[in-house]
Amino acid sequence: MCGIVGFTGSSPAAPVLLDGLERLEYRGYDSAGIAVVSREKGLQIQKCKGRLRTLRQRLEGIPPLEGTVGIGHTRWATHGEPNDVNSHPHVSQSGRVAIVHNGIIENYVEIKEFLLHKGVRFRSDTDSEVIAQLLDYYFTGSEDVLDAVYHVLARLEGAYALGILCTDEPERLIAARKDAPLLLGYGEGESFIASDATAIIAHTRDVAYMEDGEVAVLTPDGISVFDQYRRPVEKAHHFIQWDVSAAEKGGYAHFMFKEIMEQPEALRQTISPRLRNGEVVLDELDLTDEDLRRFQRIYLVACGSSYHVGMLGKYNLERFLRLPVEVCLASEFRYSAPLVDERSLVVVISQSGETLDSMAALREARSQGGYILSIVNVVGSSIARESDSVLYTWAGPEIAVATTKAYSTQLALLTMLGLYMARKLGRIDPAEYAAVTGELTLLPGKLETVLAGTDTYQYLASRYFNRDCVFFIGRNLDYALGLEGSLKLKEISYIHSESYAAGELKHGTISLIEPGTLVVALATYEPLFDKAVSNIVEVKSRGAEVVALTTESHRERMEKIATHTLTIPDTVTPLLPNLGVAPLQLFAYYIALQRGCDIDKPKNLAKSVTVE
Ligand code: M6R
Repeated sequence: MCGIVGFTGSSPAAPVLLDGLERLEYRGYDSAGIAVVSREKGLQIQKCKGRLRTLRQRLEGIPPLEGTVGIGHTRWATHGEPNDVNSHPHVSQSGRVAIVHNGIIENYVEIKEFLLHKGVRFRSDTDSEVIAQLLDYYFTGSEDVLDAVYHVLARLEGAYALGILCTDEPERLIAARKDAPLLLGYGEGESFIASDATAIIAHTRDVAYMEDGEVAVLTPDGISVFDQYRRPVEKAHHFIQWDVSAAEKGGYAHFMFKEIMEQPEALRQTISPRLRNGEVVLDELDLTDEDLRRFQRIYLVACGSSYHVGMLGKYNLERFLRLPVEVCLASEFRYSAPLVDERSLVVVISQSGETLDSMAALREARSQGGYILSIVNVVGSSIARESDSVLYTWAGPEIAVATTKAYSTQLALLTMLGLYMARKLGRIDPAEYAAVTGELTLLPGKLETVLAGTDTYQYLASRYFNRDCVFFIGRNLDYALGLEGSLKLKEISYIHSESYAAGELKHGTISLIEPGTLVVALATYEPLFDKAVSNIVEVKSRGAEVVALTTESHRERMEKIATHTLTIPDTVTPLLPNLGVAPLQLFAYYIALQRGCDIDKPKNLAKSVTVE
């Protein structure tokens, strides 16, 4: 959840760290801090509660931190409230060791008690401080700091990405990783660590991903990596393809709006290379036709919006493949003794590729013999690396906490996976296959037309921004789409919203409908359009105001019934949600804007949920 950056080079470290933290702030933003070390000045630390700008202001009022080696952290609090003391970096009692940590140390109470008995005094309420204190305890000063680091890591239980500084070896930066993302950056006479590439892309695109159990020693001249037994490791280098501008706002007010508008292009990146002469081609899949025939059941496992993609995927995949598809929340799946075996295809969907619950679900499924195929956006992420096959969405960096373009591209890719498998297995009607693949190529263009006019959404937002509660209703694909529309609205505008299968209304929820209640009715799914209309009439007759979303061809009819009608271009049924999601994203965006919310960094949230 937190963001980590570290630097060692020949220029002052502080500006590099602050710039890196600015780009990582989406990972957590309740406090921030940096530590810089030099032989003359020792450790110099500045940290405080609040956004990075507060830290910057604080630094402007003091002499520059001196040193070319440093670590930085932007926090999403788990243990200990957000305040100055609980902010990272944490320093040992003697002032010799400073650390930044992302993850959770599960046995910190036990370690803390051990150190308290040894006379160590703690300053913070965090689990992370034990790492700095324990390191100092083990480091007698006579041997290599690395010895002490290995000693400490052997005692830690839980997850960590760590950046470590020690005044005894001020030219070195040490990093370690277990179950939390950390990458290494190789520059010209400078070396970096970072939670993700956005933090260092302005300096280098040459990166390597740390594996669990690895420890890295960074100097300006290079990086040495060791495994958990301290054997040297040769790291494979990766070149980051995207440009620094992809992770910048580029004139837009918010990353979320920029990313909504980038969806057509992101879809082109996802779809075009995988569609050749009307055939879906998934070169990345390491699966033979025989493997495909082996699968008796498909599990779609994910969290949050990625789970909503799975909800939609179930409808489409079952339609194409006539195989049972189960959609599972990763946080439940991992503890549910799932009935996975070697006949199971387990598709893990994750933008970040680092979501801890999804990762744990993946490992659970693997231990039961399932084949793991992941749909991931962040190249080289943990989920991608632990999967048997990966389909990358290639949406480019997504910075806003509320996902938009990653959702859209995941959805398109999952649909393509269904088409691919169904074609190989001979389960899909060739006419339907041709129709859907044909429409896939038109999808980005159609989405552009949906995104072309934003006035309607601004108008609707001005009218409904002060509601306390909004209901989303729909059937089939529209039900699954409503889940995403509702999540988008609540996470960025803080309006309570619920999404229901419209057929369920009469079983309880309709009691909440009263004059003036806002209902967003999704009615794009053609086969059940008439049923959707009936549900709209039912809520309207109880006084609800209805914003309806349907296709162009149903506009006229809907305009006679709903309070407001939004439309998307007609397309084949399986692709309707790919167009339908954009109005819901814009609706949520403009409502949050009207309410003055911090759209890119909603309260209590972080982009990448690497804790349980
Ligand atoms: O990186 P992932 O796709 O694994 O993340 C899953 C969820 O945390 C994520 O989709 C979350 O629900 C978003 N904030 C929704 O906008």
